[in-house]
Amino acid sequence: MKILVTGGAGYIGSTAVSILLDRGFDVNVIDDCSTGYAASVDSRATFFQKSILEPAALDYALQGCDAVMHFAAKSLVGESVVKPEIYWETNAYGSRLLLNAMRRNGVEKLVFSSTAATYGDSKENPITENSATSPTNPYGASKLAVDYMISAQSTAYGLSAASLRYFNVAGALKTENGWLAEKHNPETHLIPNLLRSTPESPMKIFGTDWPTPDGTCIRDYIHVVDLIEAHIKALENLTPGRHEIINLGSGGGYSVKEVLAAAEKVLGRSIPAIATDRRAGDPAVLVADISKARAVLGWQPERSLQSMVSDAWESF
Ligand SMILES: NC(=O)c1ccc[n+]([C@@H]2O[C@H](COP(=O)([O-])OP(=O)(O)OC[C@H]3O[C@@H](n4cnc5c(N)ncnc54)[C@H](O)[C@@H]3O)[C@@H](O)[C@H]2O)c1
Repeated sequence: MKILVTGGAGYIGSTAVSILLDRGFDVNVIDDCSTGYAASVDSRATFFQKSILEPAALDYALQGCDAVMHFAAKSLVGESVVKPEIYWETNAYGSRLLLNAMRRNGVEKLVFSSTAATYGDSKENPITENSATSPTNPYGASKLAVDYMISAQSTAYGLSAASLRYFNVAGALKTENGWLAEKHNPETHLIPNLLRSTPESPMKIFGTDWPTPDGTCIRDYIHVVDLIEAHIKALENLTPGRHEIINLGSGGGYSVKEVLAAAEKVLGRSIPAIATDRRAGDPAVLVADISKARAVLGWQPERSLQSMVSDAWESF
C-alpha cells in the first residue's frame, strides 16, 4: 500500500513517514519545507519538495497512492490571530486542493490531522467528539472548516476518512539516522520550552491561580509514536464512505507543575521557572475523552509523560 504523507518533513509527519516505512508501506512525501526540514524526510521515501497549493505537484505526488495522511499545515495559534489569511490559504484552501486532487486521481482514503483547537474553550471536560466545537482562533477554525469539507466529500463522493483531533503532542522517535523531534520556530510547546529554560530565560508559568489542584493549567499530552500508531489503526479501520472524528490524547491531564516536576526528574536538576499572569484565552483544563479511539481503533496510548520528556531531552 502506498501512502502520500503531506507535511512529511515536519515533526509529526516525518515520524509518520519513518514508522510507515518500517511497517512496509511505500511512502511519497509532499512538503514545501516552510516549517519542516528536508533532512528529516526518511531517504526511503520519495520526496516532492513542493507546496500542496500547487495542483500539478499534488497530481504528481499522488501517482500510485492508495491513501493520504494529511499533516501539512500552519499551526501557530498566535500567528493565526495576526496573519489569519495564511491559515485560510494553507490549511483550508490547501486541503480543498488536496481533496480535489485525490478525487481526480481516484484516491479514496484519508487520515487528517485535526486538533483539539476545534473545540475552543470547552465547557466540558473531558472533551468528547460530541462536545461543541467553538474555535477561539483562526488556526482552530481553519481546521474545523477542513473537517466539514471532509464530511461533505464523504457524503457526496464516498471518501473514507478519519479526522484525528490531537491534544498536545510530545516526545520524539529515535531512528537509525538520529532523532526525529520537535523543531518548531518559534517553539510554543511546553515540554521543549522547559527543557531549554535557563536562569537568563526561565520558563514562564502562565497563572498559578487556576481552579485546579495545584493552581496551574492542565493539558493532555500524547507521545508522538502513540499518535502515529493511532494513525495507522485509523487507516486500517476506515469505513467506506464514512468520515469519523476521533480524539487522540492520553485521556488524562497533567498540570504545568507536574510536567515541570517530570522534567526535573529526567534532568536530575531543577529547571528555572517563573510564575506570570494568566495568558488571555487559556482555558484551565483541556483533557480528551479517548473512549472512541479505544473502541473504534482498538488503540490505546502506551507511553508515559516521563518517556515523552526523556525522549524529547535525549533528542536535543
Ligand atoms: N504538534 C502538535 O501538538 C499538534 C497538535 C494538534 C494538531 N497538530 C497538527 O499536526 C500537523 C503536524 O504538526 P507539526 O507539529 O508536525 O508541525 P510542523 O510545522 O512541524 O509540520 C507541518 C509541515 O507542513 C509543511 N507545510 C506547511 N505548509 C505547506 C504547504 N503549503 N505545502 C506543503 N507542506 C507544507 C511544513 O513545511 C511542515 O513540514 C499539523 O496539521 C498540525 O496542525 C499538531
